Parts: sequence; structure tokens; C-alpha cells
Amino acid sequence: MEITNPLEELSADELLAMVDRDRLPRHIAVIMDGNGRWAKERKFPRIRGHRAGIKAVRGCITTCRELGVPYLTLYAFSMENWKRPEREIKGLMKLLKEYLIGEREEMLEKGIRLRAIGRLDYLPEDVRAVLDETRDATAKGTEMTLTLALSYGGRAEIVDAVKSLRVGNLEDIGEEDISEHMYAPDHPDPDLLVRTSGEMRISNFLLWEIAYAEIYVTNVYWPDFDAKHVYAAIVDYQRRERRFGGVTPAVGARG
Ligand code: IPE
Ligand code: IPE
Ligand code: MG
Repeated sequence: MEITNPLEELSADELLAMVDRDRLPRHIAVIMDGNGRWAKERKFPRIRGHRAGIKAVRGCITTCRELGVPYLTLYAFSMENWKRPEREIKGLMKLLKEYLIGEREEMLEKGIRLRAIGRLDYLPEDVRAVLDETRDATAKGTEMTLTLALSYGGRAEIVDAVKSLRVGNLEDIGEEDISEHMYAPDHPDPDLLVRTSGEMRISNFLLWEIAYAEIYVTNVYWPDFDAKHVYAAIVDYQRRERRFGGVTPAVGARG
């Protein structure tokens, strides 16, 4: 679907100057979509699109960290993505492993704390091991929490949360009980949800947590997503009035 984002006509510098650093989203969540279409347009195999997507991942992390966004969550592989051809899944897992090994030093240097959410036990053992190592090695990072959603499904997360509830009486269950049993209960809910490649859907991402997230969709394919698009999404977000169901901006509301 073609979307119009007039802000994206501006340059990165112009947009950066428009970002209000005192009202940054605390948590940005991104549905990184369009690697396959990016590759197809160039008559490349899909996996080359995923490889190009890694460059955009690096750029997005750097931009958010430099701005001072404390939480960034990237949707890297969904539960439904297990339906893809084995070759593509194998390629993606290989890229993920390379990424986790290759970026570890830089994450440590830059104070990035890596976390992962999803049914991680579905991941191949070698990928899981590298993920655990990088997560443990970066656990003390204080600059930004980078969360990768891997083998992640929003409905699966809710099911897993409900299963882990230890309540005697169903009548006693409240929203906070569910929230406390999500995969990353200590992270704030996303304020801003970004999706690339023009698709106007959620695709089972963070269903519980995005209840009041502001949504920004851009036409660019994920490999072409750069600092300019991060700034445009934030400027757009900062122009919205978040009401949280009330009639005026809620007292203490962010953004
Ligand atoms: C997103 O790109 C990356 C993953 C889902 C792993 P796609 O692979 O979905 O790219 P399109 O949607 O086919 O263009
Ligand atoms: C969502 O993209 C999942 C990720 C970005 C990892 P998809 O390409 O899998 O979503 P659909 O199939 O277009 O809904
Ligand atoms: Mg897709």
C-alpha cells in the first residue's frame, strides 16, 4: 500500500533539527519488513535482501542509541516465519548467528544490552547458544536495551503468560498479572511502532504491549531504512496527541 509521509521529503539534517530530545519515545518497536521485495526488485535471491537488512539493523541501532532512545525492539523472526522454505530459514539463522557474534564487541563498547523475546527454545541449538552468550556478555549495558523478537508471536506470548500465571482463582486475574508474565515484563510498553514496506498490519507483533502505541508506516523496504526514517517517525510521533482514552493529554503522558 502506498503511504504518504511528507516528512520523508526532508533531509536527515532537517528532520534531526526537528526532533525534540526531551520528548523522545522511551521504547521504539520496529517490524522490519520488505527484505524479500528489496531483493526481488534487484533480481537477487531473497537472502541477499536479508543480508542487506542487517546493515539497516546496525544503522537503526546506532541512530536510536545516539538520540538516547532507551529501548529498541526489532521483530526479526516471527513464529509464522517458521513456515518459510527451509533454505530461507537456514540462511536467516546463519545471518543471525553471524550478526550476534560479529556485533558483540561493538555492543559491549557502546553499552548496549541485548535481550531476546519469543519461543527461543524453537531456535537451532547453536543459534540459541550464541544468543545466550551475547545476552550474558552485554547484560550490564546501560546505554540502550536492544531486544530481538525471535521465533516471536504475540498470541504465543499471551498464551505463555497465561500458562505461567500462578493464581488460585481465575476471578483474581488482573491486567497487571498478565503484564508481569510477558517475556520482558521490565520493559516499558512501546510508545512508537514502526513498520516498513507500506504494509498496514501488525503481523502478530507485541499484541499486548502495543495497546496504546503510535503507529508509523513507511513505504521504504527495510534495507533502505536509515537515520532519516528514524527521525521522520519520531517527529511524526511527537506531533500526535496521545490521549490514552481520555479527553485531554493524560497527566504524565509521554510523547
Ligand atoms: C522481513 O522481510 C524479514 C523477515 C520476515 C525475516 P520479508 O522477508 O518479509 O520481505 P518481504 O515482505 O517478502 O518483502
Ligand atoms: C513480519 O513480517 C515479521 C517480521 C518482520 C519478522 P512478515 O513478512 O512475516 O509479515 P506478513 O506475512 O507480511 O504479515
Ligand atoms: Mg514480509
